[in-house]
Amino acid sequence: MKKIIVTGALGQIGSELIVKLRDIYGKDNVLATDIRKEKDVNGPFEVLDVTDENRMYELSKQFGADTMIHMAALLSATAEKNPQFAWNLNMGGLMNALEVARELNLQFFTPSSIGAFGPSTPKDNTPQDTLQRPTTMYGVNKVAGELLCDYYFTRYGVDTRGVRFPGLISYATPPGGGTTDYAVDIYYKAVENGRYTSYIAEGTYMDMMYMPDALQAIVDLMEADGSKLKHRNAFNITAMSFEPSQIAAEIKKHIPTFEMDYDVDPTRQAIADSWPNSIDSSAAVEEWGFKAQYNLEKMTIDMLEKLNRKLKAIS
Ligand code: SER
Repeated sequence: MKKIIVTGALGQIGSELIVKLRDIYGKDNVLATDIRKEKDVNGPFEVLDVTDENRMYELSKQFGADTMIHMAALLSATAEKNPQFAWNLNMGGLMNALEVARELNLQFFTPSSIGAFGPSTPKDNTPQDTLQRPTTMYGVNKVAGELLCDYYFTRYGVDTRGVRFPGLISYATPPGGGTTDYAVDIYYKAVENGRYTSYIAEGTYMDMMYMPDALQAIVDLMEADGSKLKHRNAFNITAMSFEPSQIAAEIKKHIPTFEMDYDVDPTRQAIADSWPNSIDSSAAVEEWGFKAQYNLEKMTIDMLEKLNRKLKAIS
């Protein structure tokens, strides 16, 4: 990775990823792109709608990119509201990105998700290679995406790589329209109001990860020796698995008056119920040395500290 074009660079992952990539590879070697310029990104930026393959090709070529990190996509709950649009954006964008990577010989990363699993998948310690019959449009897109990335590697030799991210938690940019978003909202509401109403029911376990570990995983996988990768795309990775009352209890250690109640959203609950409780990331550990630094305890300390600072600065 020396000259990197990033799509969806203003999204939840992208906005922090470009900062990390610029720290490592140099500010001018990372081209941030997104459908709108909503904020300043302190470095090269171009407006790019990922359904426009010609512009994606031209921008990548002019920039002299050797790597594409394709992040632009709709998350699970938003995709469920408009499945046809989700198909066009998630699959159309990915096909365009893979084609540009093939034409310009770019190393390629795109994330899959725990959403690529479904109700018939083994729920606990979900294996790397297992049944994948997701019941959401997002999941359908993710499975198709995993297969497409494998196909572009075996058929065209494109150096495609990817992980299945769990729910990602960060204080910088809020997620938009995911099922796991409650685990971000809860920290904001704890700091702002001292209470939170969870739309996910007590007892619903999902895998999660703190953003610094997610960003490091992208860099580590892209820098890994390709000859050691047996899976290439869709590596299971996770840092922790918890359910709402466990994250609430962890927050209470720092904000003793914090209270949580429930008002379950049937749509997002159904999505969460179709996903694993906890996934097995041993293939990622074996093939490229994946390691997470943050557990629930350490993440909570950092989130509360950073959000206290951020929200105080705003008010
Ligand atoms: N965080 C994502 C979502 O909830 C899962 O990949 O949609």
